[in-house]
Parts: sequence; C-alpha cells; structure tokens
Amino acid sequence: MLETLARLPEDPLLGVMAAFRRDADPRRVDLGVGVYKTEDGDTPIPAAIQTAERELLGASTTKVYVGAAGNPRFNQAMLELTFGAGSEILASGRVQALQAPGGCGALRIGAELLRIADREAVIHVSDPTWANHVPLLGNTGLRIERYPYLDRATGGVNVPAMLAHFEALSRGAVVLLHGCCHNPTGADLSAADWEAVADVCERRGLVPFVDVAYQGLGGGLDADAFGARLLARRLPELLVAVSSSKNFGLYRERTGAIVVVSPSSERTAIAMTQLQRIARGMYSMPPDHGAELVARVWESAPLRASWTTELESMRTRIETLRASLVAEIARRRPDVDYSFIARQRGMFSLLPLSAEEITRLRDTHHLYMSGDGRINVAGISRRNVGYIAESLAAVIR
Ligand code: LMR
Repeated sequence: MLETLARLPEDPLLGVMAAFRRDADPRRVDLGVGVYKTEDGDTPIPAAIQTAERELLGASTTKVYVGAAGNPRFNQAMLELTFGAGSEILASGRVQALQAPGGCGALRIGAELLRIADREAVIHVSDPTWANHVPLLGNTGLRIERYPYLDRATGGVNVPAMLAHFEALSRGAVVLLHGCCHNPTGADLSAADWEAVADVCERRGLVPFVDVAYQGLGGGLDADAFGARLLARRLPELLVAVSSSKNFGLYRERTGAIVVVSPSSERTAIAMTQLQRIARGMYSMPPDHGAELVARVWESAPLRASWTTELESMRTRIETLRASLVAEIARRRPDVDYSFIARQRGMFSLLPLSAEEITRLRDTHHLYMSGDGRINVAGISRRNVGYIAESLAAVIR
C-alpha cells in the first residue's frame, strides 16, 4: 500500500534550517527559522525555566496522566498572561483555556472546533501569513481565503484594504489575526487599528482567531496582548492560540493553549467539552513537562520576575539589532530605503528580495533566510550585522 505514496519536498522553513547546518563556511549566517538567539548564536533556556526544571526534577513523584485539558495551573497562567490577572474578562467566566501541543496544536484544535461549529465556515488569513497557517487550519477542511495586509511600499500594514475586505464578509466569517510580531512581515497593527478591527468585527458579526505566538517580544508583555484583550472586551466570541515556545524558550516541549471566549460561561464550558473531545481523538492529551515549568515560573514571584527581566532584555536586543541593520545597510547603500525594518516588531521582517537574490545570498554569501525573503532578526548579532549588510548591499538592486 505504501508504494502509492509520492515523495514530498522538505518543509520550506525546516529545509532552510537543514541547509544551514550542512554549510561549513565560517561566514554562514542563519536568519531562517524563528528562534531567539544570543550574540553567540545560542538559543538558551531562560534562567527561570532552568531553575523550575531543577526543582521539578527533585520534586516529581509520578508521570501519571494529566487529562485531555492538560495542566490546569498552566491554563490559568496562560489566561492571566493573555488577559491580565484580575481582569474583568477573567472574572466574567466567559473565557477558558485548554493546553495544547504548542501554538501549532492550539491553532489546529481551534480550527477543528470552528469546523464542528460550522462546516461551511471560511477562515481569512493575512496576505502574507506564516506558511504553516495554511495546512494547520486548512487540513481541517475549513476553506481559506486571504485578506490584503502588507503594504509593500511602506513595510507597514495596508489598513484600509484590510478593513475593506473585512467589511465585505458575511456574518460568522473567521479572521485570523496575529496578536503581535506578525509572521512573516513584522508589520503590526497599532492600537487605533485594533479598535477599527474590533468595530468591523462587531458590525459584521465576524469571529476573530488571534494567534499570539510571540508575546513579550514586540512591544512588551502587555502591549503585545492589547489586541486580544480589546477584542475579548468588545466582542461576544473569539479564539486565541497562545504559545510558550518563544517567550518561555520551550520550543521542543510543545507548550501552548487554545483560549475560548464566548458570550457566557455556560457556552464556554460547552466549547471546552468539544475541545477535550477533539484533543482526545487527535493526540489524547498534551505533554506536561513544559506546561508544568511555565506554571511554576508564573506562580513564583522571584522566578516570574527573573523571566520577565530576561524576556525584556531579549525584546530590547531585537530592537537594537533592527536599528543597527538599518544603519549598516544605509551606510553601504544610501540609494535604498530599508528603514521599515526598524519600524517593525518582533523576530521577523520580510525583505523585498527576488527569488534569485535570495538564492545568491545563500549560495554566494552563506546567508540563509526563508524563501519568501523573511529574516529572523534575532539571528543578527553585533559580530555579523556588518557582514549581513554587506551581503545585502551587494545583492539588492
Ligand atoms: C517560524 O515561523 O520560523 C517558527 O514559527 C517556527 C516554525 O515552526 O515554523
């Protein structure tokens, strides 16, 4: 039977990671997959997570099952992180979280829930969006359409075009929004843009699905949750997928959650029964290790303080790297304007490069980025920023 299967090409993003590992040139630079890196190119485990892990190892007495909803203390931590401890929305009981295997798992089971709720539902994703959004959401059978997002002339968001698209949607249409640090463009919505999105969602009866994968790495922990918090206050229904991969450095532990906001605590509780059934039928229950570590960091005042300080230093470092890349490019090529990189937020920027330029950067300059021109800004360092700018200056027209 298996002889009927066709060989598939490598995943485009993971393929970049593999190609970089095969390149032995000392000048090689990895700006591919979205992981945070230090000056030395390492992706460390945050100190608070390391402490929690040591404590957990000493305290663990069992590996017995937790359950399809995952770790309840982690779920509570995710609700407080997303909406703010003591917020009105948490007190209302309208919102609950269910642990999922990473932000990807959260997106997938959220999409499965939407498909069960409405088999005809259409989900609108930004153009462009993270490549994996399409299979994660679309493989459920949900139809995917695209809304205009990036203004390629400015590197910002084409807000009028996006809102005009939303305005024309019918009631119940789902819009996937990036809560912060848009992947792949780095172009985020301002507070006023979020208000405008909330207005149109309210008027047209749209259901937002907010992907919050980089909270804390854009404008800060609260600023990055602004959109999700506003929509939860203003709208009867929304879903939020949250990830602990980047901000807690737990990538391979697959730690995330799907959050449901509905008009009443009863309806949210019903949706949670559906989500548990979906989880049970797909992977039974999520892995606990990362979730337990997050819960321990969140519940301990000193560990939480250490984590927020470390996260803030990662965020400000990314901002500095953005500014220095812009300056280094401008010095070498005053005829091109890459200043948009400094206005964007989070780990990514989408460079306006052709496929041929991206290939030349890889083959001649050993500079690795994803095939659409997305760079992981966190892969830049004080050591390599000059070389990156030099390579770009040599290639861009
Ligand atoms: C990325 O976009 O590079 C990250 O979200 C990692 C991934 O799974 O693709």
